[in-house]
Amino acid sequence: MTARPVSSLDLADEAFLADPYPTFQRVRSEHPIWWHEGSQMWLVFSHEQCNSVLRDRRFGRIWSDREPAERFEPFNLLHRSQMMENEPPQHTRLRRKVSTAFARGHIERMRPRVRELGVDLLERVDGAEFDALADFAEPLPVLVIAELLGTPSADVWSLRNWSQAIVKMYERPTPAAEIEQAALDASSAFADYLRELIEERRGDLREDLLSDLLRSQGQADETPLTDDEVLASAILLLNAGHEASVNVFGNGLVALLESPDQWQRLVSGQVPIRLAVEEMLRFDSALQLFERTATTDVEVAGQIVARGERIGVLLGSANRDEAVFGAPDQLDVGREPNPHLAFGAGLHFCLGAPLARMELAESLQLLTSAYPELSLNREPRRRPTFVLRGYVDVPVTTKERVKPDG
Ligand code: HEM
Repeated sequence: MTARPVSSLDLADEAFLADPYPTFQRVRSEHPIWWHEGSQMWLVFSHEQCNSVLRDRRFGRIWSDREPAERFEPFNLLHRSQMMENEPPQHTRLRRKVSTAFARGHIERMRPRVRELGVDLLERVDGAEFDALADFAEPLPVLVIAELLGTPSADVWSLRNWSQAIVKMYERPTPAAEIEQAALDASSAFADYLRELIEERRGDLREDLLSDLLRSQGQADETPLTDDEVLASAILLLNAGHEASVNVFGNGLVALLESPDQWQRLVSGQVPIRLAVEEMLRFDSALQLFERTATTDVEVAGQIVARGERIGVLLGSANRDEAVFGAPDQLDVGREPNPHLAFGAGLHFCLGAPLARMELAESLQLLTSAYPELSLNREPRRRPTFVLRGYVDVPVTTKERVKPDG
């Protein structure tokens, strides 16, 4: 074993947040694994190590309630009973139930609807200048996941606000007390809202995901979903189902508009949209960090990660690893192959990847056809967060609009 390389990386540093990639590149070249004092966990930066940790069953997503448990109960309730925070056998059971409901043709059924919603949003922003985030990239996935689950469209902005408050809890460094309180209030309000909707829907089952989850409760099965599991799974789908998609599109669009030659390759039809979507996912990862806990002592790149210690997998760094990607800091919409880790790997690989890919492809297709001459209006503003990387706004300007075909 070599001595523990200790990293003093400041995850809140402004320059680092503005562009973490040169730091990642340097850190990767120095050591494959670091102990991070700030967050008291190990960090891995290379594609190889990130991929291997995510697939290694000795590392798990082991949920432990936030303390004091009484205060954090509303937040804990939404996490302890869902697939993402559990390992087998609980994970297998929860994921199987949700994916059965998810697979029932919901995604392909949604494609024309996604297009329709996108066209409608673009109709509304008709004008020379708009915010591609607030007016397009943000509402689209929110509307889609809400509709898929079967929540009334009038409520989508409450869902979006609750979700935004809750996900701030996943940030590093640990959030301030007022952010915690806002997340707790949002967790309670979200749970109350959904409990009411679930009761209503139980008496009026429809063709939506929530109804499918409720139907599965009634099927002969030795382990039907409990009410808390239906609630936590629905909230997981609502949150995971849009948070990342908004920022993948925002980050990717900024990268595209900052490389007009790449934008033109799409506008001209020279490169298939599906390849550009993969590059948007890779280039500026919307989700930078996921954590695991060692369930036994594990050796990683010459260091022992002791049982009970945590390890952070830096997806954004893995996706810029020069050992895997040629010219990793260059946006190349035609990049192929593109083995990025934006959807994770292994047991917890993103359940929503097919939906996310479809939404991103439809969104990009619509925007490139409607606004072939789109450009940035001014410098977009970055959000000062590390784990969920995104922009506050993406102000764009356009010359002439081509009417999108609905
Ligand atoms: C571009 C958008 C998206 C990205 C980049 C993304 C990324 C990820 C990643 C990296 C994970 C793995 C987490 C881990 O290993 O700890 C994950 C898990 C998950 N995602 Fe996504 N996601 C996206 C969209 C969606 C959508 C649209 C949905 C669903 C409606 C969704 C639902 C889930 C669920 C349920 C899990 C947990 C899977 C499990 O624990 O087995 N995601 N996602």
